[in-house]
Amino acid sequence: MSVSPSASPSVPSSVSGAGSAPTQADLFDFVRRMAADTELIASLPLDPEGRTWVRLDGPGGSEAWLIGWPPGTGTGWHDHAESVGAFLTASGELKENSLAARLPADGWKTLELSDDVDRERRLTAGQGRAFGRHHVHEVLNDSSDRHAISVHAYYPPLPRIRRYSRSGPILRLEQVERPEDWQ
Ligand SMILES: [Fe+2]
Repeated sequence: MSVSPSASPSVPSSVSGAGSAPTQADLFDFVRRMAADTELIASLPLDPEGRTWVRLDGPGGSEAWLIGWPPGTGTGWHDHAESVGAFLTASGELKENSLAARLPADGWKTLELSDDVDRERRLTAGQGRAFGRHHVHEVLNDSSDRHAISVHAYYPPLPRIRRYSRSGPILRLEQVERPEDWQ
């Protein structure tokens, strides 16, 4: 359950050589290699009060982050517009709630989700996933006492993030963030 069907962790990152856009498999390979770099993972400052992050140099111009998650923190529901991506837990455990549904791009404020679109996965150290465009999810550390650390990569670099609130089956678009909001 740790890898999405479209991601092949065995594909070498060299396939993203000069001139070609990194694929989901390339991004997955990158986050897996970074998460295995114990020196890098140990270098991330951790804060019991909130998430911490360090920007990484992703392959092929992708946007990449090393993120620390104290117990009880999470992203809230969001998507990554047209970017594909991958993330992988380096230590601790993360939970991903996601939607197996494609949302309309524009022109709506609330959506009622059907009963069968919710997916849940738990990603322990060394486990991750890749995802395609318009992936909608939230990622959280629901441990009561353990920090988690993960590596994330996106291509193209995130043009925007749409943020949602969720009340049962109702998804509401709350905010659209642009790069200046998180860089
Ligand atoms: Fe995300």
